[in-house]
Amino acid sequence: MQFARIAGLGKSLPDKVLDNLELEKMVDTSDEWITTRTGISQRRILGKDKGSSELGAKAAINALKNADVAPDKVDLIIVTTVTPDTIFPSTACYIQKKIKAKNAACFDLSAACAGFVYGLACAEKFIISGMYKTILVVSTEVMSSIVDWTDRSTCVLFGDGAGAAVLTASKKESFLATYLGSNGSYTDMLYVPAGGSKYSVTKEVLDNHDNCIRMRGNELFRLAVRAMADAAQNALELAKVPIDDIKLLIPHQANNRIITAIASRLKLPKEKVYVNIEKYGNMSAASSAIAFCEAWEDGLIKKGDIIVTAVFGAGLVWGSNVIRWV
Ligand code: ACO
Repeated sequence: MQFARIAGLGKSLPDKVLDNLELEKMVDTSDEWITTRTGISQRRILGKDKGSSELGAKAAINALKNADVAPDKVDLIIVTTVTPDTIFPSTACYIQKKIKAKNAACFDLSAACAGFVYGLACAEKFIISGMYKTILVVSTEVMSSIVDWTDRSTCVLFGDGAGAAVLTASKKESFLATYLGSNGSYTDMLYVPAGGSKYSVTKEVLDNHDNCIRMRGNELFRLAVRAMADAAQNALELAKVPIDDIKLLIPHQANNRIITAIASRLKLPKEKVYVNIEKYGNMSAASSAIAFCEAWEDGLIKKGDIIVTAVFGAGLVWGSNVIRWV
């Protein structure tokens, strides 16, 4: 039997920093409101005319370097994004070209902020089935391209970035369990109304900013806490791992208060929960991918450690992986 392991992680962030003080000049908000309600101090912005494949390709190259895997050894590229370069072709194909992974099959996966965990799940299953040996999962987002910069209730929350993981075939078991869930009755909680087949972009759409994120933040808050805590608990149960045995929880970074509430529900001490939202805001699927990469870069993940992801996003969708670092 062939297992899968994460052989390397990478990230890429745009240089431009947008801090809360600059946002104060753009909308009726304050650094104090943003930091106390969300924990966010700054976010990165990619800038005009650059797509998510640009950040994704850089994160992929870093992950491949860290895994010591050549691009032409990649069998499959799975990109998770809500901000693709174009509706089609897939952003995975743009990244394939940029990183010269000429032997890879490519597709994009849509699971909003839960994309990285769904992507890891997919990649692991392709490897354990024996179909592929080396898979690149890239979560890349340019949330600034779908944010309504006149809406203070959402524009302060989001940022741009990309994270990537290289999964390879392994003799040792590393993915101990994965739990995924969805509830399509909440599609109106968090969505972009226009730009799809149902409501295409017109001048009226642009005037109403209907091509931008709409969110019912208050209701989502409660759902996010319950969904992520339950996902982690369910995955741990499937893996038969007691919560005390985990080294680190890597949650989706949507709001520091959500993360604190999850930790308290799971009875996890602060030191066991990775948080970097202060620097980047919510980068949708890229948040958990970058958090995983930075936890590894910070030396917090060692051989034998058990790492648990917990994510939540538009759909609603949620999920968790229990991973032993090998
Ligand atoms: N600056 C100042 N005041 C603001 C701002 C702002 N940026 N935004 C909202 N307010 C005001 C509101 O207008 C409201 O004023 P009112 O009382 O006069 O009506 C007041 O602040 C309180 O607003 P709430 O929405 O109740 O604030 P809350 O404490 O719930 O925080 C937030 C809002 C941060 C959005 C929070 O609800 C949240 O984080 N929700 C979850 C969001 C989430 O998880 N989203 C994504 C998950 S999936 C994914 O990542 C894509």
